Amino acid sequence: MKNEDLIEMAVESMKKAYSPYSGFRVGAVVVTKSGKIFTGCNIENSSYGLTICAERVAIFSAIASGERDIEKLVVVADTPEPVSPCGACRQVMSEFGDFEVILANFQGKHTITKVSALLPYAFKLKR
Ligand code: THU
Repeated sequence: MKNEDLIEMAVESMKKAYSPYSGFRVGAVVVTKSGKIFTGCNIENSSYGLTICAERVAIFSAIASGERDIEKLVVVADTPEPVSPCGACRQVMSEFGDFEVILANFQGKHTITKVSALLPYAFKLKR
């Protein structure tokens, strides 16, 4: 699927956001190496710290379906510039590889980057 179509799909996911506290909606799409697609939106909570970002919902959905090989992640919000993922989501991304990440806005403006560029020197548990 083309990046433009994936961004469109992320916009559709974004419309499902539950964000009554911030009013800020985010959508995400994960494409796995096996060709499957998982979507996510941000889901807020009245206990604010329990909020989960769209990126993590999409990634966790893929993992919970047994799909660990991620090819790319698309994230979109209605922002002037392509939305940039939070630090917590960057750390979660780095757990599952150095895949492509497409940051986009509503107008379809997008930046193509990758996990290691978003989070250099990521924490890895070595015991
Ligand atoms: N949010 C995301 O979904 N992804 C990000 O990368 C940054 C922030 C959400 C969390 C919260 O619901 C709202 O945006 C405002 O922070």
